Amino acid sequence: MKITALPPQSPYIPTPPANKKSPAFTSNFFTNLNGQRPNFTYFFRGDFEWLSFAKYLNRHFANAEKVNVYNAACSDGSEPFTLVMSLIRKLGHEKAEKFFPIEAFDLNSSLINMAKTGVIPLLPEPYTIVDIWRLKLKNMFMEHRFLNYKKIRGFGQLVQMNDATRKHVNFSVGNVLTKVDSMEGENTVVMARNFWMYLEPYEQELLAQKLGSKLKKDSIIVLGKYDTQGERNLDIFTRYGFEETYIDYVYEKIR
Ligand SMILES: C[S@@+](CC[C@H](N)C(=O)[O-])C[C@H]1O[C@@H](n2cnc3c(N)ncnc32)[C@H](O)[C@@H]1O
Repeated sequence: MKITALPPQSPYIPTPPANKKSPAFTSNFFTNLNGQRPNFTYFFRGDFEWLSFAKYLNRHFANAEKVNVYNAACSDGSEPFTLVMSLIRKLGHEKAEKFFPIEAFDLNSSLINMAKTGVIPLLPEPYTIVDIWRLKLKNMFMEHRFLNYKKIRGFGQLVQMNDATRKHVNFSVGNVLTKVDSMEGENTVVMARNFWMYLEPYEQELLAQKLGSKLKKDSIIVLGKYDTQGERNLDIFTRYGFEETYIDYVYEKIR
């Protein structure tokens, strides 16, 4: 019997369903979600081991001279500043330096404008009534070498990041679905936390695929608790060359 070679498989390119015009945010689902609380975030968000992650990064990238860190969907900036504080606190300024500046972006321009000023609410609104939590946050993590506290009537307690901390983060407006195209792929960390539920399934697939082809071996993706629940468990990453690490929500590119 004659055996003929199979034609090479063409790569799978996720595409929007036929009735969708734009590649992003066309569904009622997203519009509804957007009207609710799409930018919810806070310093040292409790779904992640920030200090263990800083130690892990130090060890994982021990041989790299420069590490490219991107913070997708950074909301009001509390997330990238949390990472800055965690890295400096665990590694000291000198070793933390190679992870800076963090390139942080979000779709929402008013949030980015707020982040650029460095003046950010200490806690999101529903939590400001829980005083014990606020005290805990202040005592455990938020040191005056990084920031000061302000109180503004009508806004509650705010955090004012100092200039030395602010200079470690560059903020811009951007959609992760396109920003990914201009990312560096070598020795790269992409914080991609708690926004995947705003993407439609084909957009999730497209983004995972783009990250899979952009990021080189040993680069890192970090998800959030709300990205990895139930149906949304992003096993799509394993299809694009990532493997879960011993730190929850942290995935390493293994090939
Ligand atoms: C729930 S907040 C998460 C903030 C932060 N990453 C965290 O985990 O605390 C979701 C953020 O995702 C942003 N976002 C949603 N879709 C996005 C996209 N395609 N590109 C960039 N930002 C996006 C929203 O504007 C919002 O600020």
